Amino acid sequence: MKILVTGGTGYIGSHTVVELQQAGYDAVIIDNLNNSRIEVLDSIEKITGIRPEFEKFDLCDQPKVNAFFEKHNDVDAIIHFAAYKAVGESVEHPLMYYRNNLLSLINLLDAMKQCTVPYIVFSSSCTVYGQPADLPVREDSPVQPAESPYGNTKQICEEILRDTIKSTDKIKSIALRYFNPIGAHESALIGELPLGIPNNLVPFITQTAAGIREQLSVFGDDYDTSDGSAIRDFIHVVDLAKAHVVAVDRLLKGKNKTSYEVFNLGTGTGYSVLETIRTFEKVTGEKLNYKIVGRRAGDIEKIWADTSYANDELGWKTQRSLADALLTSWNWEKHYRGLK
Ligand code: UD1
Repeated sequence: MKILVTGGTGYIGSHTVVELQQAGYDAVIIDNLNNSRIEVLDSIEKITGIRPEFEKFDLCDQPKVNAFFEKHNDVDAIIHFAAYKAVGESVEHPLMYYRNNLLSLINLLDAMKQCTVPYIVFSSSCTVYGQPADLPVREDSPVQPAESPYGNTKQICEEILRDTIKSTDKIKSIALRYFNPIGAHESALIGELPLGIPNNLVPFITQTAAGIREQLSVFGDDYDTSDGSAIRDFIHVVDLAKAHVVAVDRLLKGKNKTSYEVFNLGTGTGYSVLETIRTFEKVTGEKLNYKIVGRRAGDIEKIWADTSYANDELGWKTQRSLADALLTSWNWEKHYRGLK
């Protein structure tokens, strides 16, 4: 069975390619290398012994998308990761975000209808819930107006999927709403590689520990939480990657209950930013230089997942702890920077 992984050289995509290959699937990647490096293919090959097929092009280019499916007429399912994902950048360049994230999905769905690839797993986000009134957040918790164009593209893409699937019996889909993916492969050969100054917490932590950033800013200590810092549900990227294999399996084996399903992917436990910093210091033995600053615009106070639906229906559960995730992130950072 062959799975097309769009964005397969990216952070979550590369970990998913590894898990797919180790589960016996063939993987073919489409990536325009906008936010990833070609060397990731070497790293994947080092881990699994198998070099995934790779095509470099932009999914916004519809003739190229169609030509891809003519060439690779043995694709059984798609996992669609390729998208822009920086919240702040999306506020500055909304049209760039809408064009890229919407058009790539539209082009894929169009091609799927023509070439009869029936299954697509979509990379969505807990950002669709905004600040939920009730925690933990369930799949049927209300979707709230997005804080950023990035978040809105996830909401609109979910709607595009839902409407398309209503209009045809040729396509079935699962949207996976990720909480906060962190961590890296235990080999330290692949991990998160943000270009420039990281926006997300854990890459900023590891780069600060590595001496690349002078100081970590903690955005806010006056939230209504136990220590005042914001709370997130951090999920290890390898657990997340494994959920994609389960979702693809579910579609291929016809175990899905409806043509369009949505699952939360989180651990079910929230940790505060300060707890995360302390855990990092404890498992790595590194002292972090940080200071408390004001809240970051657009941040929510706290969110964590109700995982019961994903646990019961997918038969999937996270197995790795926050400490595991932070240690692997650190090992990856050290390996990438050539540090001891
Ligand atoms: C954001 C997006 C999410 C997206 C994810 C990955 C929103 C609301 N959230 O998650 O959809 O999937 O990025 O790109 O759109 N923090 C610091 N100092 C830092 C960096 C972060 O204190 O230097 C804090 C933040 O204020 C936040 C927590 O750490 O409270 C997590 O932040 P981050 O890693 O950026 O993820 P989210 O904002 O939760």
